Parts: sequence; structure tokens; C-alpha cells
Amino acid sequence: MKKSTDLLQLHRVSKSFPATLRGGEPIHILESIDLAIAPSRAIAITGNSGSGKSTLLQIAAGLMSCNGGEVWFEDQLLGELDSDALSSLRSRRMGFIFQASLLLEDFTAIENVEIAAMIGGSTKAEARSKGRDILDLVGLSSRLSHRPDQLSGGEKQRVAIARALVNEPAILFADEPTGSLDEGNAAMVEELLFSLVKKKGVALLLVTHNLAFARRCDEIQRISDRTLEVIE
Ligand SMILES: Nc1ncnc2c1ncn2[C@@H]1O[C@H](COP(=O)(O)OP(=O)(O)O)[C@@H](O)[C@H]1O
Ligand SMILES: [Mg+2]
Repeated sequence: MKKSTDLLQLHRVSKSFPATLRGGEPIHILESIDLAIAPSRAIAITGNSGSGKSTLLQIAAGLMSCNGGEVWFEDQLLGELDSDALSSLRSRRMGFIFQASLLLEDFTAIENVEIAAMIGGSTKAEARSKGRDILDLVGLSSRLSHRPDQLSGGEKQRVAIARALVNEPAILFADEPTGSLDEGNAAMVEELLFSLVKKKGVALLLVTHNLAFARRCDEIQRISDRTLEVIE
């Protein structure tokens, strides 16, 4: 497989989790999934709780291996990369946002973003400047020196977005990024996420239960019975 202009390609990906130590059948989560994302495209993944959305996202991002099939990112087969190569690829080319912001609690907003920039290869001075620029874009110029416990839920997610985008990734993986926010903050974070993704030409793989949010993507896919189907 491979050789197309897609940024990310899943080809016949299957995943099952082994039976527990106490016995029982392996749990089959994904069965022969095909999915392709072109540069700058946005795809939403919906599906019931427990249907395998997070599993799919983690496999697509090389955070989890699959039992069958292939995952290609640009011209690389993820299954052939060792863990250092995978980490390096992830920190330079991919961004992640989860339902919880997962910021480092002992560091300020700008430090959280700078650390990500330095892991992505920036010098300290470059990281500071990139951190300021991106936090400005998410509207947090006045919160640079606040630690996560001094920020609201919406502000923390905005820092998480800044951190995810500071290295100018080719793709952003977002797993229910507004799932823990109230309606007002969810709408604001959603607006910010889409405007930045479009502005920077970043591809987006978004897991969401919110159909209105999903409809802002170019395509909506639903997981059910271990397979994906395009619904819109
Ligand atoms: N590491 C794991 N070991 C065993 N089962 C798992 C593991 N991770 C997820 N699962 C199971 O896989 C199914 C799909 O999980 P998940 O991808 O988190 O679903 P979703 O994100 O759609 O809610 C669930 O039944 C979950 O319990
Ligand atoms: Mg999930």
C-alpha cells in the first residue's frame, strides 16, 4: 500500500485487546479500518462511548500499535519506526489535544508551551518567542505566567491548543477536546480550534460527540460494529 498524496493513511487496521489474566475472549475493537486524510483536511470521528474512537486515534498517531494492517504517515510506515523515531516524528509533525488539558501543573502557561517547542527542536529563545506568539493567537497574552491551577477550564484548553500547535504540526489529533467544558467555553474553544487549524493549514482528526462541531469538518465518519462508515 501507499503512494498517494495523503498525509495519513490507515489501511485495513485491526485492533483487539488480549483476554485478561483471568481468561476470557480477546476483545475485538477495530476490524479492517481504512481511513485517509489529505493535508489540511478535517475529519470528525463519532460513535458511541466504548466504540473505539480513542483507540483509533491513538493508533493513527502511533501511540498504540495495531494487530493487523498498516498506518502510513507521509512516506513512513509507523510500524517500522523504533520508539525514538516515533517520538521524534510525533513531536515535530503531530499535535495532540485530549479532553483533559494535561498541562504540567508546576509550570506556567508559557513554560508549558516552551517545553513542547524545545522538545520539537527549538532553542530556548526561539521557544519563548514562538510560545508568546501562539499564546497571543489563543487570546492568552495576559495569562503567560499563570500556572494551570490559576486558569479556568477553557483557558487550560486554550493553552493545550497553543502547545499542540507550537511546532507547526502537519496534523492535529483531538480527542473530545471540548468534552469537559461548559457550553460557552466549549463554543469558544471550538471556534479557536477551527480558526487556527484553517489559518495554519493543519489537518485535523477530531473525535467528538457534538454533531455541530463535527459538521465543521470536511467529512464525518462513524464507528460502529468495529468499522467506519462515512455519514456526511
Ligand atoms: N488497553 C486496553 N485494554 C483492554 N481494553 C481496552 C483498552 N483500551 C480500551 N479498551 C476497550 O476498548 C473499547 C474501546 O475503547 P475506546 O477506544 O476508549 O472507546 P471510545 O473512545 O470510543 O469511548 C472499550 O470497550 C474499552 O474498554
Ligand atoms: Mg474515548
